[in-house]
Amino acid sequence: MRWLAVPALMLATGAAVATPGPGLPDTMPGVANPARARQNWILACQGCHRADATGTPQTTPTMAGFVGRFLHVPGGREYLAQVPGVATAALSNDALAEVLNWSLIRFDPAHLPGDFTPYTSAEVGRLRMKPLRTEAAATRAGLVARFKIEGKQQK
Ligand code: HEC
Repeated sequence: MRWLAVPALMLATGAAVATPGPGLPDTMPGVANPARARQNWILACQGCHRADATGTPQTTPTMAGFVGRFLHVPGGREYLAQVPGVATAALSNDALAEVLNWSLIRFDPAHLPGDFTPYTSAEVGRLRMKPLRTEAAATRAGLVARFKIEGKQQK
């Protein structure tokens, strides 16, 4: 029954469309190509943040299970695109918006606002024109200090 193998193979090939990956939702808002986003994460981000976004003690904060919280405080959305590692990455605005959306969905889905609006290329392009520099750590500390206050307001 060798002829059976042909349609089976075609089926298998047809099913091999790019999916976000195991354990991830079928569609990721603002991520046109999850495989490309992951590749850009590997090339441009994980050297500091590590593959699983747990960061590097003393130098790079943990994004995993944490980074989405910035989206709940005023200024947090801007911060995520103006932080030096993001704003100055050697990626186009398109690729940068995609990898930023990908990293938020991939590493901290629990803290994403229910009405999360993905970053667009234009928004990231505008924000990265004003990158944070030496003040990044202080800006970050100010935002993190607000997490508790906002958390109480959100019940
Ligand atoms: C040279 C190391 C380095 C690289 C490369 C890097 N980052 Fe970062 N990232 C940091 C550090 C350090 C911080 C903390 C803020 C600061 O002091 O700059 C940070 C903060 C962040 C934050 C804010 C979260 C928080 O807890 O402050 C996000 C989001 C982020 N990085 C995403 C990325 C993405 C996406 C890339 C790749 C395009 C990237 N980073 C590349 C070092 C890096």
